Amino acid sequence: MKVGLIGIGGMGNVHFNCYKKMEGVEIAVADIRVDMAKEKIKDDSIPVYASYEEMIEREELDFVDICTPSYMHADMAVYALEHGLHVLCEKPMSINSSEAQRMIDASEENSKLLMIAHVVRFMSPYVYLKSVIDSCELGKPVHVIMHRLSEAPKWSWENWMLVPEHSGGVALDLSIHDIDYTQYVFGKPESIQATYHDLKDNSNHVSTTFSYDGFSVETVGGWFNASIPFRAEYLAVFERGYVESKGGKITKNGKEVTVTAGETSEDTGINLSGADGYADEIAYFIDCIKSGRQPMRVTPESSKYSVELVEEILKTAKKV
Ligand SMILES: NC(=O)c1ccc[n+]([C@@H]2O[C@H](COP(=O)([O-])OP(=O)(O)OC[C@H]3O[C@@H](n4cnc5c(N)ncnc54)[C@H](O)[C@@H]3O)[C@@H](O)[C@H]2O)c1
Repeated sequence: MKVGLIGIGGMGNVHFNCYKKMEGVEIAVADIRVDMAKEKIKDDSIPVYASYEEMIEREELDFVDICTPSYMHADMAVYALEHGLHVLCEKPMSINSSEAQRMIDASEENSKLLMIAHVVRFMSPYVYLKSVIDSCELGKPVHVIMHRLSEAPKWSWENWMLVPEHSGGVALDLSIHDIDYTQYVFGKPESIQATYHDLKDNSNHVSTTFSYDGFSVETVGGWFNASIPFRAEYLAVFERGYVESKGGKITKNGKEVTVTAGETSEDTGINLSGADGYADEIAYFIDCIKSGRQPMRVTPESSKYSVELVEEILKTAKKV
């Protein structure tokens, strides 16, 4: 199995470290910053290209893994699919839903797999919460609140994250993790109500309430002009108790729960807590390729729906 990793910035490096630990996986890398890439890789046996098209032409790849700025995802994915490769692509799927549809069409027309790396679906605290919801062991949900807060990201290549047309801002780049998880677990909401704060110097804050039959889910995403440490937390209240993920601990009705962390439970060096899930999502996608089955855990249609939800949130939000 050979992967062509496109982009080895913050997230590409996390994926690269996962591939390095996997048996039977060969890697080629494309990044326009070849010197930076070589310095990170520290392995002359791994080919590095400035152009992803050239990498695709020269290397015998099975799939590409796209870890470039979000506004580039659709063009790169469509190019790779049209060149007969399967595609794993970082979230958000694309900068808007029509670009997402273009990716789906290319995947179908070329009969190649396409999966968006919605890592939260693979992260152990969220896998655990889904198991509690699905088993109904604490009864029906009453209220779920999910926070994802960070300092405004000033570390990206050419500062693309703080250019709204390139990243989609805090809603599409950050809050989409919890928005995607909400629809993955609970399905289509009955209604949505959002508030969007445009703070100065590209800081943003978006708070969304998703109403379901008998309960609601609130997602809060924020990029702040303060050196606030990254945090991703949830509190899920049910008819007969609660589950909380906070400060790296999961508790159920006040008692700590131990769940098996993924293989990459380590400091990622970017605005993520000691996060697991990355190796698991990659292993899942490779397994889908090997067994020739669709990645049902994250379908392209459901990833496109998350982009559509963000579009609806931004269109209807009360702007503060
Ligand atoms: N799943 C997560 O938890 C998570 C976390 C952070 C970022 N992301 C996503 O990952 C993607 C990348 O974000 P990042 O933080 O790594 O950004 P980054 O700015 O750190 O890295 C982007 C990389 O792409 C390279 N690049 C730019 N143009 C290129 C081209 N034409 N060909 C090849 N390489 C090119 C840049 O040189 C840079 O190394 C984004 O879509 C982002 O939303 C996901």
